[in-house]
Amino acid sequence: MIKRVAHIAIAVRDLEVASKFFEENLGVRRHAVEVLDEEKVKIAFFPVGDSEVELVEGIGSDNPVAKFLEKRGEGIHHICLEVENLQQQLDFLASKGVPLLDRTPRDGGQGTKVAFLHPKGTHGVLIELVEVPASS
Ligand code: CO
Repeated sequence: MIKRVAHIAIAVRDLEVASKFFEENLGVRRHAVEVLDEEKVKIAFFPVGDSEVELVEGIGSDNPVAKFLEKRGEGIHHICLEVENLQQQLDFLASKGVPLLDRTPRDGGQGTKVAFLHPKGTHGVLIELVEVPASS
């Protein structure tokens, strides 16, 4: 059911400062910056092999990333696992009683659909599931 680790996301205070660190010190190149208006976050992706590092910065003070930074400071925010059929996967997890933050998929940027599992059901890690369109 799980195809790969799609990305590991790091919550940062300043996307440009953090991007510079990754580019200059780790030699990875960012290939997309997106603003997700609904979530009030700005994200940048850095391809690393078959996977990616995602940097995520909150916009303003009322968003999940700002709350995360306030509580825990910068650090790993979530891991993202690619699945074949996201709705089917969510139905399966719901049937097992796994607490879901999203019962149906939503827009995840780059044409993907995503849904989050609640960390209280995943041993403390926020897990994002992603379904990537067949064309990409
Ligand atoms: Co993500």
